[in-house]
Amino acid sequence: MASGAAGSRDPLRAFGLDGEVAIVTGGGAGIGLAIAEAMAAVGARVAIVDRKADTAVQAAEAIGRRGGVAAAYALDITDAAATARTFATIAERQKRLDILVNSAGLAIRKPAVDLTPADWQPVVDVNLTGLFFASREAAKHMIAGGRGGRIVNIASMMGLSGGGLYPNASYQATKGAVVNLTRALAIEWAKEKVRVNAIAPTYVRTGFIGPLLKDPALVAKIEAMTPLGRLADPADIVGAALYLASAASAMVTGHTLAVDGGFLAQ
Ligand SMILES: NC(=O)c1ccc[n+]([C@@H]2O[C@H](COP(=O)([O-])OP(=O)(O)OC[C@H]3O[C@@H](n4cnc5c(N)ncnc54)[C@H](O)[C@@H]3O)[C@@H](O)[C@H]2O)c1
Repeated sequence: MASGAAGSRDPLRAFGLDGEVAIVTGGGAGIGLAIAEAMAAVGARVAIVDRKADTAVQAAEAIGRRGGVAAAYALDITDAAATARTFATIAERQKRLDILVNSAGLAIRKPAVDLTPADWQPVVDVNLTGLFFASREAAKHMIAGGRGGRIVNIASMMGLSGGGLYPNASYQATKGAVVNLTRALAIEWAKEKVRVNAIAPTYVRTGFIGPLLKDPALVAKIEAMTPLGRLADPADIVGAALYLASAASAMVTGHTLAVDGGFLAQ
């Protein structure tokens, strides 16, 4: 049902994920964790994939304590072979794979003239190459299952803008690439009913921007630059993720949904 038409007497049912299996990369913390918790709360069985094994285990246990179903998998998504093995294990254990949320991400913030190959490459490896190979592996299982699937990429509003409060060129380049990779994969996999969409969040209060959050002047500046007047919390991203991962968005693919408090509308 979830990948088909959204029609239902109760429109909210279209947002449900009962009986579905979701993988969330970077699911141990921040935005990925909030999305994993929400997906489990609406019925999905969730595989928390994270480079940090302990974080993944804690996240899965916390979801389990709240009555959800989640399992932890330690995986660095920059290892394409390990990603293929882990996703195959998940699909085999769960007998299906319906949803992939690509939330694992990395930023190395420096002025462009100071960026070395050692700074540049890991950002590309995680944000673009890792995301692609995770998507490729997930799509293989979704296509083989014959029910299609949904991929939700966590891009960034910095993938739709060259601006920002500090230099972050490698991050912006990779997130911009994710926006267009989302379109390309959406077109390529549409006939197999694998929908691919992205979310472009504003600044979100997670460890990812920890140093920024410790600078009250910078936070105040972001608030002043944001029409809705605040930074986002991980919970602010959940609605968009559930929409794009469920039948509620059955006719939406190749789209990037800004969750930015109006930032990009200016
Ligand atoms: N926080 C923000 O302001 C913000 C804004 C826009 C977009 N984003 C994007 O949202 C996504 C999630 O960010 P967050 O704020 O939740 O960060 P976070 O640091 O809170 O969580 C990211 C998680 O990803 C995991 N991870 C990192 N590299 C990995 C890898 N190679 N393999 C597997 N797991 C890996 C980390 O261990 C961590 O648990 C990222 O793609 C980020 O670029 C964040």
